Amino acid sequence: MMVRRAEPGDLAQIVQIEGLCFPEETAFPPKMFAYLIRYAVSLVACEPEKKVLGFIMGYTSGKAGAVYTLDVHPGYRREGIGSNLLQSLGEILAQQGAQAIRLEAALGKPGAVELYRKAGYQERELVRNYYGRGNHAVRMWKNLDVCLCLTT
Ligand SMILES: CC(C)(COP(=O)(O)OP(=O)(O)OC[C@H]1O[C@@H](n2cnc3c(N)ncnc32)[C@H](O)[C@@H]1OP(=O)(O)O)[C@@H](O)C(=O)NCCC(=O)NCCS
Repeated sequence: MMVRRAEPGDLAQIVQIEGLCFPEETAFPPKMFAYLIRYAVSLVACEPEKKVLGFIMGYTSGKAGAVYTLDVHPGYRREGIGSNLLQSLGEILAQQGAQAIRLEAALGKPGAVELYRKAGYQERELVRNYYGRGNHAVRMWKNLDVCLCLTT
């Protein structure tokens, strides 16, 4: 398994995985993914023959980074792919200047919250109806270790 930048040619597989992970009402539309592949930091975890196993998308704005979405194909879960993608995205956002990263996790998906906790994210606030009426999210943050190199 390798992690690399997503390409426009990955769009169909990304849309397929999103459909396996989320119901139609909450799934990102294909056009949104096409936009994110082009303009956000979008990474895929894939096999050498290019089968996409999971993906993550995020961005940096000033000193804050954000994770938009993280999906792993149901047939490849609990193998560390989600953690790997999160770590890789975090490194890129840090290189872009992020000092902290924010994400929202559905309260009904304890697996995701646990993954983020293990990666060092902490719950900060409840975001009501984030995923539609009655579907709340928890906003989590991680402060990145910023190395301050002082010169004398
Ligand atoms: C959440 C998701 C991304 C996890 O991906 P993954 O590749 O299975 O995650 P990892 O293998 O890196 O898991 C790391 C740790 O997170 C926790 N975890 C992950 N999935 C879990 C689950 N279903 N139940 C409990 N803990 C879970 C475990 O502590 C796990 O470590 P372990 O396997 O050694 O016990 C994946 O289940 C998924 O795509 N779900 C649907 C989409 C989604 O909910 N995305 C997140 C949006 S907020």
